[in-house]
Amino acid sequence: MAALLIRNAALPDGRSGIDLLARDGRFEAVGPNLPAPEGVPQLDAQGWLFSPPFVDAHFHMDATLSYGLPRVNASGTLLEGIALWGELKPMLTQEAIVERALAYCDWAVAKGLLAIRSHVDVCDPRLLAVEALLQVKRRVAPYLDLQLVAFPQDGVLRAPGGMANLKRALDLGVDVVGGIPHFERTMAEGASSVRQLCELAAERGLRVDMHCDETDDPMSRHVESLAFETQRLGLQGRVTGSHLTSMHSMDNDYVSKLIPLMADAQLGVVANPLINITLQGRRDTYPKRRGMTRVPELMAAGITVAFGHDCVMDPWYSLGSADMLEVAAMGLHVGQLTSTTQMRGCFDAVTTEAARILGLEGYGLMPGCRADGVLLQARSPIEAIRLRAQRLAVVRGGRIVARSPSASAQLDLPGRPNAVDFTSKP
Ligand code: FE2
Repeated sequence: MAALLIRNAALPDGRSGIDLLARDGRFEAVGPNLPAPEGVPQLDAQGWLFSPPFVDAHFHMDATLSYGLPRVNASGTLLEGIALWGELKPMLTQEAIVERALAYCDWAVAKGLLAIRSHVDVCDPRLLAVEALLQVKRRVAPYLDLQLVAFPQDGVLRAPGGMANLKRALDLGVDVVGGIPHFERTMAEGASSVRQLCELAAERGLRVDMHCDETDDPMSRHVESLAFETQRLGLQGRVTGSHLTSMHSMDNDYVSKLIPLMADAQLGVVANPLINITLQGRRDTYPKRRGMTRVPELMAAGITVAFGHDCVMDPWYSLGSADMLEVAAMGLHVGQLTSTTQMRGCFDAVTTEAARILGLEGYGLMPGCRADGVLLQARSPIEAIRLRAQRLAVVRGGRIVARSPSASAQLDLPGRPNAVDFTSKP
């Protein structure tokens, strides 16, 4: 197994001048001035920030990099995106999904993103995307943890055979139970889908992650059922509500009851800032709602909140590049998370908090943790967000799996320095 000694790194907790010794896939020692074992290669961090890898808590790998197939989303809306995905699905081949997903995982590794929870659409009875992503999961396992969610895009009760297909996907090895209660035919059907899917997860000992209340309708309150079922079935800490955009528009009085219920159920929350800010508020004139869920209030209540990328170059979103610092920066701005603690919280939302939502084993920089991480051209997590910092090196299991040159601009100005890299002074 690979061994590596990382010299002179800053860590996200504020320590600097730290060495990390990786051996047999784990960090063996972390501290200042570690003795150098013979024959172990060294990586000089030069005082830059070494962080545990980025984690994306919410993605759609079956759709990624399909932008323009079979046509572009002309209105840029969520509903046209869903319709467009419906047009694309019959044309998909397993090989094409695998190729696009593998290409995306290359981007992810280059950006220091080494764990992704991807929803996979289970409404196609062929389960083409499920089989493709299970294959991708096996193939990328040496360098990226891919966790799959059985996602009934067309509604587990609304789509013919929805529940049977979802169960078949779980039988094939999909890890997490998904759902989309706000897309079911009625509020009652939505609540019933939440109950049935949570019962299924409890029966099989699985985690739950539902697309929940991804709408501007303040009366879309399925997150309440999700919190209730989580408690009723003893699933605390294993259930996540993704999007929860309706919370943005809910009455404050109702939210003052809802957030403590969510905290009691230890519900995880994933906001998807890039997608929420582009897809929500589309029926508004002005003022136009931002649509992202109430991230500052949820964080303040002690709830685990992560940010997801959700989409990259697919029917819903034509941009993106697997850059979780771009996601964190957007979340910070949309949520006005500008205190020092909140800005730090935005970095955690794409690292430690996201890892907690996935239930990743051995995540972190403590001795005994998996020797995974990313060396960023920044002095601190906040600076990393400010700069969307360059990923100087990406480490997986104690092996360097990606490198990028440092980012700087050469200058030719009278009496001025000959280069800038936009970082603060050490
Ligand atoms: Fe999503």
